[in-house]
Amino acid sequence: MTEMLRLDAVTAGYAGIPAVRDIGLSVASGEIVAMLGPNGAGKTTTLRTAAGILTPMTGTVSAFGRPLRRRLEQNARAGLVLVPDTRGVFHSLTVRENLTLARRRNDNLDEVLDLFPALRELMGRRCGRLSGGEQQMLALAKALVHRPRVLLIDEMSMGLAPVAVQALLPSIRALADRFSVGVLLVEQHIDLALSIADRAVVLHHGRIVLTGPAAELRADRNAVAEAYFGASPTHDSSPA
Ligand SMILES: Nc1ncnc2c1ncn2[C@@H]1O[C@H](COP(=O)(O)OP(=O)(O)OP(=O)(O)O)[C@@H](O)[C@H]1O
Ligand SMILES: [Mg+2]
Repeated sequence: MTEMLRLDAVTAGYAGIPAVRDIGLSVASGEIVAMLGPNGAGKTTTLRTAAGILTPMTGTVSAFGRPLRRRLEQNARAGLVLVPDTRGVFHSLTVRENLTLARRRNDNLDEVLDLFPALRELMGRRCGRLSGGEQQMLALAKALVHRPRVLLIDEMSMGLAPVAVQALLPSIRALADRFSVGVLLVEQHIDLALSIADRAVVLHHGRIVLTGPAAELRADRNAVAEAYFGASPTHDSSPA
């Protein structure tokens, strides 16, 4: 597996005050890394730094084997895409119109729609009339049309019923498998996230306090719970 995204000893924050410290992690092609942790742990900050929206105070972020570019669009064009929440969807437009806006030459819309067959049935529907889960599918489809190589997904399931999340997450596994996309997945539904992820990291107070294969973490709920409630850091400084 090729390494797609790498954070080395990253400390980042706001107005000179660190919110995350000494973060090391990597995502390979076709791999899903779940990022877990309680509210305020630093998950979104880590994702923003990985996307190039925030510049690390110290440490480095690289994508596709080279340091992140300065401009967000350059990174996006290289294939590093932050999946926006449903605010990226235009409510007054239909599903078809939303997807048409996202299209480019040589896009893979047909393949993407194979991942979300439900969207095919909804092409003529205005997005304001879609359910939350359907809107989220559309947001994901819009991001995928651009053939990303790494997706950074921040709490896609916010506001969705667990049953809707359960329906959506397997599509993420499928796109990692089918398109070899690497995924850094921030998700509140711990067990669902671990069920599709390859590896996971748990953040607490801005630090990685637990890392491991998703299956192992899933089997050791106590370790995950302890990490959530603030065990002492167990990781060394090498990337997870
Ligand atoms: N724009 C900002 N300016 C200053 N501090 C911020 C800003 N955004 C987040 N923070 C602080 O940084 C820390 C980490 O926040 P972050 O949003 O990364 O956490 P999170 O793990 O994504 O939490 P949640 O699960 O609630 O989304 C928190 O203490 C938060 O208050
Ligand atoms: Mg967040």
